[in-house]
Amino acid sequence: MRYDEKSVRTIPVETASAKYSVIVGNGILHTLYHRLPKRKQAFVLTSPEIWALWSKQFLSSFPKEDQPCVLFLHAGERHKRLGHVERLASELAAARADRSSLLIAFGGGIIGDMGGFLAAIYMRGMDYVQVPSTLLAQVDSSVGGKTGANLAAGKNLIGSFHHPLAVFADIDLLQTLSDRELRAGLFESIKAGVIRDARLFRFMERNAEAILRRDSRALEYVISASIRMKANIVGIDERESGLRMILNFGHTVGHSIEAATHYRKLRHGEAIAWGMLAALQLGRMRGTISAEHADRVERTILAYGPLPSFNVSAEELMDASSRDKKNRAGVRRFVFPQGIGNASVVENVTDKELIAAIEWLLARVRKP
Ligand SMILES: NC(=O)c1ccc[n+]([C@@H]2O[C@H](COP(=O)([O-])OP(=O)(O)OC[C@H]3O[C@@H](n4cnc5c(N)ncnc54)[C@H](O)[C@@H]3O)[C@@H](O)[C@H]2O)c1
Ligand SMILES: [Zn+2]
Repeated sequence: MRYDEKSVRTIPVETASAKYSVIVGNGILHTLYHRLPKRKQAFVLTSPEIWALWSKQFLSSFPKEDQPCVLFLHAGERHKRLGHVERLASELAAARADRSSLLIAFGGGIIGDMGGFLAAIYMRGMDYVQVPSTLLAQVDSSVGGKTGANLAAGKNLIGSFHHPLAVFADIDLLQTLSDRELRAGLFESIKAGVIRDARLFRFMERNAEAILRRDSRALEYVISASIRMKANIVGIDERESGLRMILNFGHTVGHSIEAATHYRKLRHGEAIAWGMLAALQLGRMRGTISAEHADRVERTILAYGPLPSFNVSAEELMDASSRDKKNRAGVRRFVFPQGIGNASVVENVTDKELIAAIEWLLARVRKP
């Protein structure tokens, strides 16, 4: 393990309502206790799977007399529900947590979103930090303050903006991540490059082999650049009233694919990768992106594959898209890249255009 402080980067996040740092590097868990804001009592929310793998390293910096109290949430989207928020809040109350306690959300995006939401509402708000353990959580979900849970009616329909006091992204945690989870997170980094950081995109275009073999320096660059991009966007538009919407490149069709496959078949990042291909095709059809740029983005997405196939009809995807549209104030937004490193939001994609893009996509899914 490395403890070299020089290999640890600090990325500032400054929004209208919060100011904090994201610490990225190797070996951060070994110094975690000393980096945490000091509180009377610390609670860790994690999953049994992650705790089995990483509790020893996680606890290595905590002194015997100041051990955190550990709460568990099982892995899986079906556990991202209000019932578990109530159970966890009751466990906090039983352990006498109060507003001066600290919650540490240690896990992937589900633990991060649920931990953040629990912290947002327990006693009307307590402090928390994020220790993201998946690539997706490190490059995306742990930054920006969106927290929440799912309803039967849809994903993330309940929640709150509640920023952490800090984010500690230890790259070593990614050593135990499956290849599939790693790739799923990398699709969000490709997205980050396409919409706002041409240098990050070029790096990912040229270095797929090193990144996929988890070369530490390559991963560090990708993670830091992705976080910087997101920090910059949420700094300008915290509440998603404008610019932040470009983070949804690939997410309109991606969300429909997730819903139509009941959140079981694909990882979020994989659905977003398919969704980016559909959005690129819409861009090609409208002429908002050159064929050369669209092909480069498409080739890069496929280089981080394989993308698992799924079996749904165009009608099922259109239905899911209409339900999603209803949940979003009747507006269906698409993010169109304009070249590489720049994107804009459009709201006037017609059903006819969407059906054409979906049919094009489904032909690719069946024969990648
Ligand atoms: N708040 C936001 O802005 C935001 C943004 C994007 C996604 N999200 C949310 O994030 C969630 C998805 O997050 P995710 O992709 O991290 O999934 P996840 O939290 O389900 O984790 C994926 C799997 O990886 C395992 N895992 C986690 N860390 C590990 C490690 N270090 N080694 C081995 N296994 C490990 C988990 O146990 C789980 O099985 C979704 O619910 C999505 O809505 C939120
Ligand atoms: Zn996403």
